[in-house]
Amino acid sequence: MNTKPKGFTYTKVAYNYISYFKDGKWDEGTLREDDKLVISATSTALHYGQQCFEGLKAYRRKDGGIQLFRVEDNARRFQRSADRMAMPIVPVEKFIDAVVKTVKANEAFVPPYGNHESLYIRPFLIGIGDNLGLRPAPEYIFSVIASPVGNYFAGEAKPVDLIVSDDDRAAPHGTGDVKVGGNYAASLKPQLIARKNGYAECIFLDPSTHTKIEEVGAANFFGITNDHQYVTPKSPSILDSITNRSLKWLAQYVLNLEVLEQDIFINQLDKFVEAGACGTAAAITPIGSITHLGVKHTFPAHEEMGEYTRKLYNLLTGIQFGDIEDPNHWITKISLH
Ligand code: PLP
Ligand code: COI
Repeated sequence: MNTKPKGFTYTKVAYNYISYFKDGKWDEGTLREDDKLVISATSTALHYGQQCFEGLKAYRRKDGGIQLFRVEDNARRFQRSADRMAMPIVPVEKFIDAVVKTVKANEAFVPPYGNHESLYIRPFLIGIGDNLGLRPAPEYIFSVIASPVGNYFAGEAKPVDLIVSDDDRAAPHGTGDVKVGGNYAASLKPQLIARKNGYAECIFLDPSTHTKIEEVGAANFFGITNDHQYVTPKSPSILDSITNRSLKWLAQYVLNLEVLEQDIFINQLDKFVEAGACGTAAAITPIGSITHLGVKHTFPAHEEMGEYTRKLYNLLTGIQFGDIEDPNHWITKISLH
């Protein structure tokens, strides 16, 4: 039974994984059918945002097999996020085992090869149990849910228009570099305003000086220059995107681009011939324009995906869907029987 995904929306699948942390240790973890949680109304996740999450995908290959992309990197980032939120870490092997079990149990929901659809996997960790004061929770849930998904941005491959937000999503030494709900809560209103004004999304500037590009609400930013450079921001308050890490490698070693991680000033966008947003959900979404203080900067590649963005897109998705050989031990094949 295959449920056709519609964009990036939730479709209930057959099973999800759940494991409890109590008395200082994790239980075995189980698969269950119910996707509802019953937790104390005083859970720290609800009141103080003590939680973190991850996002990765299971891809259907042409031969019908299923594979994960860089799952171990997600496991390690999950540990950094948990630690920052004063939560117990989930061992890497437990994380991978939970993801693999969830994918196997929902094999029928992994979309067929061919339409760039996939099974989105959302591991999360929340503080639960009775608690009122501001302190870490006494107990935790680690769960993995999944849903078939299509494109995150409408009209994938068509450049999108973004607007710079006046608000910040993260503080200079805050939690911008980890994947925790609070960052996303802070980005919801700016995102709503952007969409109401006809933009696909908003883009955030650095919280200290508001002069440099940070990232999009759910994706990193990159630009391509005329001098064959792949440029992406370096900042302590953005998420270390696993997709961006992969693109940096592909840009350098496959496309022979010079890879630069540096400040990208919002008033110096004219050095880019192409720009894009990259992430698990967004894959690679080309950016056609960025509006800042009422001025719209349009990139030369604004009608179609630019040449190098296209090459990166084809390489990345080719590896993820198994059409291009894995260059770097990025792929975990799921054995189905
Ligand atoms: N930046 C933010 C704020 C994100 O939410 C995401 C999505 O996970 C990314 C960047 C991209 O990260 P990744 O490529 O690891 O999915
Ligand atoms: C992802 O790309 O996995 C994300 O987490 C994006 C999500 C916030 C919609």
